[in-house]
Amino acid sequence: MARIRIPSAIVIIFVAVQTGFLLFMYARYSNFMTQPEEKPSQVHILILSSWRSGSSFVGQLFSQHPSVFYLMEPAWHVWVTMYQNSAKVLHMAVRDLVRSVFLCDMSVFDAYMPWKRNLSDLFQWAVSRALCSAPACDSFQRTDITSEMACKTLCGRYPFSKVEEACKTYSHIVIKEVRFFDLKVLYPLLTDPSLNLKIIHLVRDPRAVVKSREQSVKALARDNGIVLSTNGTKVEDSKYKVMQEICRSHVQIYETATLKPPHFLKDRYLMIRFEDLVRDPLSEISEMYKFADLSLTPMLKSWIYNITHGEGPGKKKEAFKITSRDAVSVSQAWRNDLSFQKIKKIQEICRGAINILGYQLVDSEKEQRDLSLDLVLPRRQNQFSWSSFNPEH
Ligand SMILES: *[C@@H]1O[C@H](CO)[C@@H](O)[C@H](O)[C@H]1NC(C)=O
Ligand SMILES: *[C@@H]1O[C@H](CO)[C@@H](O)[C@H](O)[C@H]1NC(C)=O
Ligand SMILES: *[C@@H]1O[C@H](CO)[C@@H](O)[C@H](O)[C@H]1NC(C)=O
Repeated sequence: MARIRIPSAIVIIFVAVQTGFLLFMYARYSNFMTQPEEKPSQVHILILSSWRSGSSFVGQLFSQHPSVFYLMEPAWHVWVTMYQNSAKVLHMAVRDLVRSVFLCDMSVFDAYMPWKRNLSDLFQWAVSRALCSAPACDSFQRTDITSEMACKTLCGRYPFSKVEEACKTYSHIVIKEVRFFDLKVLYPLLTDPSLNLKIIHLVRDPRAVVKSREQSVKALARDNGIVLSTNGTKVEDSKYKVMQEICRSHVQIYETATLKPPHFLKDRYLMIRFEDLVRDPLSEISEMYKFADLSLTPMLKSWIYNITHGEGPGKKKEAFKITSRDAVSVSQAWRNDLSFQKIKKIQEICRGAINILGYQLVDSEKEQRDLSLDLVLPRRQNQFSWSSFNPEH
C-alpha cells in the first residue's frame, strides 16, 4: 500500500486555513444570530397616506433633498391598468411594484407600460427632483430645487432607462402611496433583508379631507370605484363609503403600529399629522428627516422657509399650490364651508379615526364655527413609546 507523505508544514497550513475558515463562518453566523436586523445601507421610505391629506407636500419635502430619489404614486400604473379590480385584490401587485422600485428595478413597469417609453410616461415624473437632474436629465444639478413646470419642458424626452440609472445613484429611495389600506400588507417588506424600510404615516382631520375631496370629485371617481370594488364603475362618494374605508384604514394602520407592534416595526413607523406640519413645519420636517437619516442642508432650510412664508422665486404657484401659511387657514376651511349636518355625518362615519388620531368632535354648529376652539389636540399626547414597552415577537 502506497503511503502518501505529506510534509508537516503543508498539514499545518491546511489546518490553519481550515480553522480560519471555520472561525470566519462562525463569526458570520453568530453575527447573523445576534444581529438579525442588519439592513442594507440604503434607506427606503414609504409615505403612507390617503387622497387630499397633504402627501404631495410631504413628498416634495423629500423629493428636493439631494440624497433622495423620489417617486409619487408609482402604483397609479397598477390601478389604471387593472381598474376593474378592488383595492384589496390590487394590494399585492402594488406591494410588488413598490418593492421593485425601492430596489431600483424599473422593469416592473413593463407590465403596465409595455410600449417603448420615455421618462415622461411615468406618472407625475416631473415632481421628482431626481428625474429632473443628473444623471436622469442634464438640465439641472442634483442640489437644485427643481420646479415641475421647468422640468416638464426640459426633461420629458429622455429614455425611460434613465429612471433606473438615476435611482441607483441615491442613498435614499422615497415613495409616496395612497393605495395601501392595511399595514399588514407591508410586513413582508419590513422583514425583507434586502430592504431598509421606514414608514411615515401621514394623516389629516377627516372633516378637512372631505372638504378637500369635494373640490376634486371627478378626479377621484375612478379611484373611488376601485376602493369600493365596483368593477370599473366611477363613484362620487356622496354617501362617504370611500371616506369610511379611508378612516377605517388609518385606524387599522395606527393601531397595528402602536398598540402591540411586531418587533420589526421598532423605529420604523412615524405618524405625522398634517395639521402639526402646517403649524410648525420646521420642527415636523426635522423630525421626519431625523427618522429618515437625512440632514437638513442650508439650501433646503432656505427653501422650506420660503415655501412656508410665501416668499422666494415661484411663490405660491410653483411646487405646492398652497404655502404652508395658507395651509393653516385651509386646514380650518371645513369649519366655515361645510354644513353642520354634513359634519355630523362624517363624525359618525369617522368617529374612531377622529378620536384616535387626536382630533376633537364638535357637538354643535356653534362649536364648529368657533375658530378659537382648537380641535387639534396637542401632538404626541399619550403617544406610544418603545422605551416603556417590551414588544412581543
Ligand atoms: C420620446 O422621445 C423621442 C425623442 O427623444 C420622441 O421622438 C418620441 O416621440 C417620444 N415619445 C413619447 C411617447 O413621448
Ligand atoms: C365587469 O365588467 C366587465 C365589462 O365592463 C364585464 O365583462 C364583467 O363581467 C364584469 N364583472 C363582474 C364580476 O361583474
Ligand atoms: C428664498 O427666497 C429668497 C428671497 O426671495 C431667495 O433669494 C432665495 O434664493 C430663496 N431660496 C431658495 C432655496 O429658493
